[in-house]
Amino acid sequence: MAEPLFLLQNVSKVFPNGTAGLSRINLAVFPGECLLLAGSNGSGKTLLTRIMTGLVHASEGEVRFQGVLLEKALDAVRRTVGLVFQDPDSQIIGETVQEDVAFGPANLGFKKAALEARVAAALEESGLAGKEDFPPRRLSGGEKRRLAVAGILAMGCEAVVMDEPFANLDWHGVTQVLAIIRRLKARKKTLIILTHELEKVLAFADRLVILHKGLLRDDGAPKEVIDRLDPSYGVRDPRAVYADVADCTWLPAV
Ligand SMILES: Nc1ncnc2c1ncn2[C@@H]1O[C@H](COP(=O)(O)OP(=O)(O)OP(=O)(O)O)[C@@H](O)[C@H]1O
Ligand SMILES: [Mg+2]
Repeated sequence: MAEPLFLLQNVSKVFPNGTAGLSRINLAVFPGECLLLAGSNGSGKTLLTRIMTGLVHASEGEVRFQGVLLEKALDAVRRTVGLVFQDPDSQIIGETVQEDVAFGPANLGFKKAALEARVAAALEESGLAGKEDFPPRRLSGGEKRRLAVAGILAMGCEAVVMDEPFANLDWHGVTQVLAIIRRLKARKKTLIILTHELEKVLAFADRLVILHKGLLRDDGAPKEVIDRLDPSYGVRDPRAVYADVADCTWLPAV
C-alpha cells in the first residue's frame, strides 16, 4: 500500500481553557483519495485539518506527512496541500483577482512568464477568466471559493482541503464547486472535504470519516458508514434526500 500522505496517531488537542477539541485520533489519508470528513458543528472537523496542516499544534500524538514528522515537513505541506478555508473572505490577499491567484505561485518562486501562464490557466479552470482586474472582496460567495481554488491550482498543489465548500452557496454555486471537485478528482488529486451536507457530494467520496465530539467515530466506504450511521452523531442520513449513496450529489457523479 502507498505511503499515507497524512498519518495521525493518537492525536489529541486540549485547549488552555480545558476544552477537549480532539481525542486520540488515528487516521491515514492516502494519495489520490477523496475523503469526506463529516460531523456536526463543533465535532472537530476544522481543528483536525488545522492540526494536519501545521496551523495548530496537537497536545499529544504524532502527525506525519509523507512519512516525515510534521514539524520537519511544514515546507512540503505548504507546497503540496492547498487549503480552502471555511470563510473564503479570510484568505483573500490580493487587491485584484489576478494578484490574489498569483500570490501562492509567486511565493513558490515562479517567475513572470510561468507565473502568468499558471494564473491564466487556473482562472480559466475555475471559471474566473475575465475577472482578472476585479477586487476579490466584491466577488460573490461562490466566486470567492472558486478564487481560493484557483490559487491552489496555480500553485499546482497535489492535495486540497476544502472546509465546508458548500456553505452559503445557492444551487448554481454548489454545482460550480462540485464541478471543480470532479475535475480535481479526475486528476487524481488528494481531496479532503469537510462537510455535513453529505447529499451534495457523497457520491464523489472514496471514504467517509465521521467525527463526533472530538472523537473519530467511523471510517470506511461511504455506503457502509451510512448503513451503520448512528443518528446521535448529528449527521443527517443523505438517503433522506436520495435513495442511494451513489446518487448523493447535485452534479452527475464521475
Ligand atoms: N481556541 C480554542 N479554544 C477553545 N476551544 C476551541 C478553540 N478552537 C476550537 N475550539 C473548540 O474545538 C471544537 C472543535 O471545533 P471545530 O471548529 O473543529 O468544529 P467543526 O467540526 O469544524 O464545526 P463547524 O461545523 O461548526 O465548522 C469546538 O468545540 C470548538 O469550540
Ligand atoms: Mg469547521
